[in-house]
Order: sequence, then structure tokens, then C-alpha cells
Amino acid sequence: MRNLLTTQGLSREEAIAILDVAEDMASVSEREVKKLPTLRGKTVINLFFEDSTRTRISFEAAAKRLSADVINFAAKGSSVSKGENLKDTAQTLAAMGADAVVVRHWASGAPKTLADSGWIDAGIVNAGDGTHEHPTQALLDAFTIRRRLHGTAARGKGLDGVTVTIVGDIVHSRVARSNVWLLTTLGAHVTLVAPATLLPVNLSGWPVEVSYDLDHAIAQGPDVIMMLRVQAERMAAAFFPNAREYSRQWGLNDERMCALPASSMVMHPGPMNRGLEISAAAADSPQSTVLEQVANGVSVRMSVLYHLLSGAVER
Ligand code: CP
Repeated sequence: MRNLLTTQGLSREEAIAILDVAEDMASVSEREVKKLPTLRGKTVINLFFEDSTRTRISFEAAAKRLSADVINFAAKGSSVSKGENLKDTAQTLAAMGADAVVVRHWASGAPKTLADSGWIDAGIVNAGDGTHEHPTQALLDAFTIRRRLHGTAARGKGLDGVTVTIVGDIVHSRVARSNVWLLTTLGAHVTLVAPATLLPVNLSGWPVEVSYDLDHAIAQGPDVIMMLRVQAERMAAAFFPNAREYSRQWGLNDERMCALPASSMVMHPGPMNRGLEISAAAADSPQSTVLEQVANGVSVRMSVLYHLLSGAVER
């Protein structure tokens, strides 16, 4: 694998291969082996033009556990504030030596631009671009679902027949897009639940069902309910009724949590707006996989870096 830009282009076999290597990485970590020598001599650059807690730190931990060197770049406090563009920023960092560049950018398509441009000779991983995709988040979500369902017997399996309900601010969510493509490729049935103003206008080609009634969707007893963050920073005023109204109609509150089957997983990619899209009781319940998702993210990103770099020709 040269780059990881989307989940839309991943085949079922490729996705399962990434999840299976992530299982290997997780089982090594669970045996308290803190470091593998696999990527010794490689350099990973985290190139973040947007804020992040989980993704950036997780990629850093993943690279270090594989013995790669890591350079972290945040646009805030850099020469981007003086007008330096993506090409010059990327080439400057690549000149210091980069085998892989992990890019988060506010502009949809920025990682693909970097991958297609030939500006730098490094594998590119999309760590979230605008409202487009966040492929490693979807991979860690799929990994978490598969592990909860199959435990240590998960290797080689997809998510055939698993029902996943994704709720909330779909229109702005790169997490939702990446999950729709990946989870359905793995055989899951995906239902989107949102107010009409927070759904993309054109859903043709999306392999999903759509519902506008969260209580009805919960009554179906989904295997997984994935709550999305309301992305206030991307929100035009017209999209958003008001916090109380949103929480009443679209939030996973305590009452809805009681209506969910005890076997349903409650997922959220984080960061959470507690009390808005998810109640504190739901976020902290035993059904919640929020922290498992974070922990699994390291193993999944180790697998992605391994797939990108282990067979790479020395640059
Ligand atoms: N889920 C996720 O992408 O979180 P961060 O923005 O903290 O990286």
C-alpha cells in the first residue's frame, strides 16, 4: 500500500488484512512488549493543519512502538501563519527526511493533492481532511466492533449482517463518510439518522438507509449506535436548531440509553459534547466503547504504518 487516502477505495480483503495485522499489533502490546523494531530507520511526519488530540498522539505512539522516528508539525505556531503553503511546508519537512506523512487538513482533498502532486516522495496517510474522510478512524471503529463481537477469534472476519446506526451531524462528518464505505464493504448494514439539515443533500450512491426518527431507529435494536459530534465550528447557523432541541430529538440521552438493548455498543469518535449528542451516563456506560476505540486506534495505526512502510523501497 503506497498511501491511505480513503476507505472508499479499500477492498474487503485489504481492509481485513489491515484489521488482522492490527490484531497482531494489539496482542503484542497486550503481552507488554512496548516496542517492535519493525520500522527502525524510518521517519514519520505528523503534519497537522487542524487541531487533534486522539489522532495525532495515536499516530505518534504507533510510530514509536514500531521504532520509527517521529516529527510532529502543527500549523499553529509555524510559518503557515506567515503564508507558507501546503507544498512548501510539506517539501520543507520532507527535506528533513520522511518516509510517511500523516496529514490532517481543513481542506477536503488536501492529502490526495499531496499524494498526487509528486511534491514529496513519501507515503501519505489521511488523518482527516475537511468533511471528506478519516480512514483510520473508520478502521479503528471496525476493529473495535469486530473485537467486541468476536474477541480473539476476530481474525479473517468481516462485519457481515452487523447493524450500525450512525446518528447526528452527518453532513460535516468525515468519520461518517469513512465508516459508511468501510463498514458496508465489510458487510454491515448502515442506517443514518439525522435532521434533514444535517444530512448531505445528495445521498445517491451511498449504500445506507436513512431515518429521521431516532426513537424508531433505537427500537430496531441496532448492534451498534455511533453518535457523532455536533461540529459547531463547521456549522452555519441555519443548520442547527438549538442545543436543547438537538439534544431532545437527536441526543443519546438516559431514556434512550435505557431503550437500547444491553448488547448494543455505544460508539463515539470523540471529542464528545457531553449533554448534547450524548449524555454522560451513556458515554460512561459499560456499553460505551469510547476509550476502547482510542486504545485500538494505536494498534490500527501501527498496522497502517506497517502496510505503508515495511516493504517500502528505501527513500
Ligand atoms: N476522533 C478524532 O479524530 O479525534 P481528534 O480530533 O482528537 O484527533
